Amino acid sequence: MRHDPRPAEPTTRRSTRVGSDNEWDPLEECVVGTAHRSMFPAEDARMIRATMPREHWHRFVAGNPFPADIVDNAQRELDGLAALLESRGVCVHRPHAVDWSRLGGYTAAMPRDGFLVVGDRIVEAPMAWRSRRNELSAYLPLIRAYEQDGATWVPSGVSRDSACLLDGAAGPHDGWAINDSRPAWDAADFLRLGGGIVVGQLSHVTNRSGVEHLRERLGPGYRVQLLEPDDPHAMHIDASLCPLREGLALYNPDRLTPRALRHTPLRDWQLLPAPAPKRRSRPPLYMTSPWISMNLLVLGPEHVLVEAADEDMCALLERLGYQPLRCPFRHVQSLGGSFHCATLDIRRRSDRHR
Ligand code: NVA
Repeated sequence: MRHDPRPAEPTTRRSTRVGSDNEWDPLEECVVGTAHRSMFPAEDARMIRATMPREHWHRFVAGNPFPADIVDNAQRELDGLAALLESRGVCVHRPHAVDWSRLGGYTAAMPRDGFLVVGDRIVEAPMAWRSRRNELSAYLPLIRAYEQDGATWVPSGVSRDSACLLDGAAGPHDGWAINDSRPAWDAADFLRLGGGIVVGQLSHVTNRSGVEHLRERLGPGYRVQLLEPDDPHAMHIDASLCPLREGLALYNPDRLTPRALRHTPLRDWQLLPAPAPKRRSRPPLYMTSPWISMNLLVLGPEHVLVEAADEDMCALLERLGYQPLRCPFRHVQSLGGSFHCATLDIRRRSDRHR
């Protein structure tokens, strides 16, 4: 049966209030991305070489859509995820359909990257990539609805000029592809640990003034602490660390060690190495390492979403007392992310938000 290529209708129904402060409380409401018309992001060659797998560098040019079969299958997987979440009582919203070829954009499949939800605030990330400067347009109808429902929208207030970030004359690079000439951060470079603690990393898309910008946006009730994963290609921390609940996290043993986390808010946590991912050639991982396997979404104290074929991750989670929920997601992974990237928590149940 052919997949219906029509984009999902944007959802306009009223949400409950936005409220989420960690990565593990029971998920009540979220955004699930949409893959329609996803394009390879056309970024500067220095950025692509710093962050993307070498064998795919040549694809990141203007006007190059992801293969239609990958996009169709990814859309089917995202619709499947939305249906699975709804069957478990989670309220799901979808982004507005956008023609990214017309806007020189990338995708609306990865809502995690552009917004950090903290308490009842949705904080807009001043993303570094030029191809993502219009991504907000896919989410604006939802954000307006959340605002009407009492959420606080915090726009980045940063000019979307990305050209300056790649200007080598503008300052020290610290080994990153971008300089520090304007604040830049992607929300997926940060994880919320509850209690006002946010951990994150510098990366090829997050600079030091970006971290300061986030600190200012969050204000005195929050502490943003940087971790230092050993990842020369760093872009988004959610394939390096995966908090499962207060006091328990999986780490990527190629990038982090419990010793490296000794002076961080995770110092007293139980830290377990994530299982090594299986190499695969199809569908291709155009934009990430195989460690995308640890980009999980925790639904609460019992359930975690796992790629349907990932036996090792399921076995580990079962040993930890979880029921893994298997969901096919390999084509979404081809577009650059897995369950954490392809969703945005809007509300997790907590006494603090009642
Ligand atoms: N840049 C990371 C993926 C983050 C979701 C990686 O390739 O491992």
